[in-house]
Amino acid sequence: MRYLVLCLLIFISSLTVLAHGDEDRDDDTESLDVSGVAVPEAPTYHEHARPIIEASCVACHSDGQIAAYAPFTSAEDVVWAAPDIKFHVVNRLMPPWMPSPANLPLKYDRRLSTEEIALIAAWADDGAPLGDARDYRPAATDGFDFAEVRPDLVLELDEAYTPADDALDDYRCFAFELNIDAPRFVTGYEFLPDVAEMAHHSIFYLFDERAERAIARHDGADGQPGWSCYGGPGLSSESAWLGGWAPGASPVIFPAGTGILIRPSQFIVVQMHYNLWTANQPDRSRIVLQLASAENELAELMVIPLAAPVEIPCPAGVAGPQCERGAAKERVADLYGAGAGHFPDRLLRECNQSLNDYAENSGENAKGYCDYPIDGPLTVFGVSGHMHELGRSFRLELNPDGEAPLLLLDIPRWDFHWQDQYFFVESLQIAPGDVLRMSCIWDNSLSDDPRYVVWGEGTSDEMCFGTLLALKQ
Ligand code: HEC
Repeated sequence: MRYLVLCLLIFISSLTVLAHGDEDRDDDTESLDVSGVAVPEAPTYHEHARPIIEASCVACHSDGQIAAYAPFTSAEDVVWAAPDIKFHVVNRLMPPWMPSPANLPLKYDRRLSTEEIALIAAWADDGAPLGDARDYRPAATDGFDFAEVRPDLVLELDEAYTPADDALDDYRCFAFELNIDAPRFVTGYEFLPDVAEMAHHSIFYLFDERAERAIARHDGADGQPGWSCYGGPGLSSESAWLGGWAPGASPVIFPAGTGILIRPSQFIVVQMHYNLWTANQPDRSRIVLQLASAENELAELMVIPLAAPVEIPCPAGVAGPQCERGAAKERVADLYGAGAGHFPDRLLRECNQSLNDYAENSGENAKGYCDYPIDGPLTVFGVSGHMHELGRSFRLELNPDGEAPLLLLDIPRWDFHWQDQYFFVESLQIAPGDVLRMSCIWDNSLSDDPRYVVWGEGTSDEMCFGTLLALKQ
């Protein structure tokens, strides 16, 4: 099978442009109308709001967690914040959940139901009464089994890393040797943040021995463990995604009988995004891997990368040499090596496109897309998408031009701060003849220093990248 665009692996990510022009590019939040939803008379904190807040908010809004600055662990805190809570839930800003309701059903969906939102709104509008603590009943759990991951291999820094304190966000990569004596299958993983207040996301990449020299060059070069990295590890060599984590994410156990193969000569590179809004302390976050011997006849899970062209012109009113595509290619070649300079043209070729396909891109509405014809049956368990900060929306569709298109990942309002790995409630079968389309939309007017933007790993470069966690049959 001409495995999708496996050859694009080199630079880890891909960009797609949405084929439709009718995307919702509206920045205004969409306030949910809950006026028609029936809610109990005179809702109170203890009886009504508290079970929802405890089940859906305190995992992040409590001491030591990513939203510790706004704790919802006492009645006083919640009552005080009631108008703000209402605003955030009615506008579906909280709990954070990026995929749209049209997405295929995903596990660990954090969204509140319309009834829950209406209840919170009614309670806040009533002046957030406390009620009687004896009426409190914890919410029934949502039935997810939070599996235990057996710690067969634990990746942990020898020495803690302390983020630089000159920025609000710090992106840092750490490399780990695997210390296994034979190939193994990873059958599950769990990320254990050390300073959870600053761990905003983490992505785990698998590199082979060819990355060794680049790792040695980067690692510790500035006197601290690891190296600074933003859009990816920046090692100019092939990698695969092993997994990812965002606050509130659960331990991951792969479907029974499957695993991702790792070999002794490989490295795992962990990219950490630290958000330093409330804390900046030495961190030694850990990754726990559950392994099975490669002698077990497990089916090999693959993380299939998808990449699409990034062709983002300057926004209106900005002109000059920095708005030339050639200058953009030279810039990434200077920064990341000759391969990076050729990558924009290579992406166009791989997607059977030319620059003409992007003639209508404007700085404010630049699209990138790629179609991947499938030529062998696949069972897909999960997906992820990746863009940087100019991203507006991301979409991965199956058979977009067919009669029953499916939205594998639909993120109508891209937020770099909430990237995650998503798992389907039910695995998806993809058949030969099916077509996957990945599409991204960017807005270059969001840039502080606008110029023509092509694919690259830096903060001011962009990507349109996706992965499928799949089994080939
Ligand atoms: C997965 C973690 C997570 C969950 C779950 C979560 N939040 Fe948040 N929340 C955050 C983070 C992080 C922020 C800080 C702003 C940001 O990153 O968007 C925040 C900010 C807020 C704010 C703004 C606080 C301020 O004063 O700046 C409110 C209000 C809020 N959340 C309410 C809620 C409510 C209500 C729930 C549950 C229904 C909830 N959040 C669930 C992570 C979370």
